[in-house]
Amino acid sequence: MPVIDIHNHFFPRTWPDLAARYGTPNWPWIKHTEPGNADIMVGDRFFRQIYSACWDPEVRLSEMDRDGVDVQVISATPVLFAYDRPVEHALDCARLFNDAALELCAQGKGRLKSLCQVPLQDIDAACKELSRCVRAGHLGVQIGNHVSEKNLDDPGIVTFLHHCVDEGAAVLVHPWDMLAPERMPKYMMPWTVGMPAETQLGIVAMILGGAFDKLPSTLRICFAHGGGSFAFLLGRLNNAWHHHPVAHGVCELPPSRYVNRFCVDSAVFDDRALQFLVDTMGAERVMLGSDYPFPLGEHRVGSLIRSSHLTPQAKARLLGGNAEEFLGIAAEKSAADASKQTAPIAPQGEQLTYSSYLKVPELLELQHPTSSPEHHDELLFIIVHQTYELWFKELLHDLDAVVANLRAAGAKTESRDEVYEAARLLRRCTEITRVLVEQFTILETMLPTHFLAFRGKLEPASGFQSEQFRELEFLCGLKDEKMLRYHKPTPEAHAMLARRLREPSLHDVFFDALRAMGKLHFDESATEQERFAARARAILSLYRDEHRNRDWIDVCERLTEFDELVVSWRLRHIQLVERVIGARTGTGGSAGSSYLKLTLDKKFFPELWEARTLLTE
Ligand code: HEM
Repeated sequence: MPVIDIHNHFFPRTWPDLAARYGTPNWPWIKHTEPGNADIMVGDRFFRQIYSACWDPEVRLSEMDRDGVDVQVISATPVLFAYDRPVEHALDCARLFNDAALELCAQGKGRLKSLCQVPLQDIDAACKELSRCVRAGHLGVQIGNHVSEKNLDDPGIVTFLHHCVDEGAAVLVHPWDMLAPERMPKYMMPWTVGMPAETQLGIVAMILGGAFDKLPSTLRICFAHGGGSFAFLLGRLNNAWHHHPVAHGVCELPPSRYVNRFCVDSAVFDDRALQFLVDTMGAERVMLGSDYPFPLGEHRVGSLIRSSHLTPQAKARLLGGNAEEFLGIAAEKSAADASKQTAPIAPQGEQLTYSSYLKVPELLELQHPTSSPEHHDELLFIIVHQTYELWFKELLHDLDAVVANLRAAGAKTESRDEVYEAARLLRRCTEITRVLVEQFTILETMLPTHFLAFRGKLEPASGFQSEQFRELEFLCGLKDEKMLRYHKPTPEAHAMLARRLREPSLHDVFFDALRAMGKLHFDESATEQERFAARARAILSLYRDEHRNRDWIDVCERLTEFDELVVSWRLRHIQLVERVIGARTGTGGSAGSSYLKLTLDKKFFPELWEARTLLTE
């Protein structure tokens, strides 16, 4: 797994005199003071001392080797954003530095990638420059956390973020133009106090201002410096949201429910802070970011993560696995995929309608029978499968939220809100699955002869390749690495499933929570069999004290029901298969129904069933 640093900066060795070019004062310029060292000046004011790693690829690469960093994603410095300048100057400045970044990357032996900058004070110009940069090779964009008085929930900025999704561009948000400079004139307080507050402000504005509700979940956005003071003050924010109507903003969910919508970097410089950040955000949402090669950056890039007490798996994610996904290096989602998931806003100037909101025209374009002449029933076959996939998507969405709630319940065992929320969402999952069991009957209106008329066209496509079905199994805890082989033809699906394999499952998180509550005990040296028995006993103890454990028993009952319904789904699928193709082999190469029957014994939560045996003993 490559080590990827997503937050670090560059300056070119030289650039044109911007003050002369635009005829306005106080533009940044570089004053080389001695070989390998320079000062960045803003007009007559000293801004920062820098050294050759900023512009010399050889120096940078050798320091990356020293620190064990494979890839750095460079970005310019916020002092160059120029959001308060005329747009034509800011755009020209952005172009100069965006092209300079690519030149540096070209000398980086494939180990340097870049994020561009855009004139965010003008959304049209910003979108155009982003598109130009993505075509030219930038992986995304670095933006400031505000444009004068506009925060990140500003409608124009939200439009720009939509554009980033459409272009498949990752977004790094960097604090800048810090608040209350008159009260922080000394001691680098704008950096140590102002920046964390600015970043927190950026995140909170996006949450409470409803930006995340409007934006698709495919937006890849990361906040620098560990998200500033956000994680530490999330409890305060949530409390205000629950108790003060004015603190509600316009968002649909409590603030803590949005932590799965963005990432943060690891630049927090303290082991306990990093651990807390990972506990709050999840190990899949924190990425190596160093602020290298600036004085306030990490001096040995990656050392904080490497020396932390995180698990090896979490370290691997933070050092590079998450960045691969964030940058779209591991699984590049096509622009078409991303645009399919755009959120419900009306095209500019047009009023939102039923069709534009639901993307009905696009949806109705997605059925393409292969039989020729077209067989009447092939449309049904396609639509039934597509509706299954849509429901699988919703199930994944809800089960991810169940996992987040159970994780939070384990972290604060005295709180009950998350347990109730998990049970509520699980009830939705069981209701959806009930519909999925029923839905096979529609397909059974197709005669076997009619299916055979177009079946030949389907090979080698098979239900084995349903990425979302396998994701559901992996997410719930049934992880079978062998099944990845069916996804080799689709690298994005393969990468997604590999990620699910690595991540804690619903099963893991559920029992971790019971352990945190002191309901589940086993030694680290315990065998799997002993652990299984301990887990079943933990369930037993919940049921035996019904009065105190009602909420957890409700979760157990919902999980049991879900398990039961998935088995019903498997059984109904087998009945359908036998009704349509008898004992024939499948298009995926299995023995067909006799193979599928072997899956009937699969359970996500066998301990819940074992506990029932124990209860009756
Ligand atoms: C005419 C209807 C259908 C037939 C004949 C059929 C047949 C089969 C067969 C034979 C397999 C075993 C793998 C193989 O060798 O291909 C299979 C697996 C699968 N099918 Fe179907 N199927 C049908 C409809 C559906 C529908 C509507 C869904 C809905 C999503 C579905 C989802 C799956 C899934 C997820 C698997 C993998 C199951 C596992 O690995 O446990 N199938 N199907």
